[in-house]
Amino acid sequence: MSANRLRLGVNIDHVATIRNARGGALPDPVRAAKLSAESGADGITAHLREDRRHISDDDIRRLSEEIVLPLNLEMAATEEMLAIALRHKPHACCLVPEKREERTTEGGLDVAAHHAHLAPYIARLNDAGIRVSLFIEPSRVQLMVAKALGAPVVELHVGAYCEATGADQARHLTRIREAARLAAELGIECHAGHGLTFDTVGPVAAIPEIRELNIGHFLIGEAIFTGLDRAIIRMRTLMDEARAAAGPDVA
Ligand code: PXP
Repeated sequence: MSANRLRLGVNIDHVATIRNARGGALPDPVRAAKLSAESGADGITAHLREDRRHISDDDIRRLSEEIVLPLNLEMAATEEMLAIALRHKPHACCLVPEKREERTTEGGLDVAAHHAHLAPYIARLNDAGIRVSLFIEPSRVQLMVAKALGAPVVELHVGAYCEATGADQARHLTRIREAARLAAELGIECHAGHGLTFDTVGPVAAIPEIRELNIGHFLIGEAIFTGLDRAIIRMRTLMDEARAAAGPDVA
């Protein structure tokens, strides 16, 4: 298997959203994580929000204990979340904005504006052996600051590309390609996510420097119609086809 195989992280937050609509235990996001693993996911992503609107503390505990795939914990850079991460030691932590003022105009974490706040969190996660990723806009400034902060991974926010159409979408895709290339030049591993669907995944999957996609909302929605296993298998196939059509891997 290629060292540059594109990984799929399945975000299971919205299984918890449906569960929480009723209270109680069903549907169980941990069951969704296990089914994702059987269906070809390479990792599980879960966002423990400060308001606990979907994933709960106990979900994170159970995911840490019960799943075999690497867990990518998305979280805000707060002392509370850092303590949880250090307690469970997930494979990875992705730092995301939760407050409006932490976001760039388009939605990623504004690492340029908040570097002084973020630096100690990145350092403490790095020191604990947890792979840190920063969820940023595909912008040169954000990438340069991510590099200066010592983040080994960035996840590019591709929501604007997914929502755009026509020439506007092509423009967003160019930004993503350029950012992925710059990340590789800087020695930062590049991921992408937010808003990806069967229709939008191909051009992003074809970008050779991108190593992982994190996809949730669309897959959980599609699961209503076809089942989660089939939705993941189809997404995996579209990713692999786009990657293969794009030609040989980069090193
Ligand atoms: N990556 C990050 C950092 C996220 O916060 C999210 C959820 O918003 C996703 C990926 C997945 O996005 P979506 O649920 O739209 O597929």
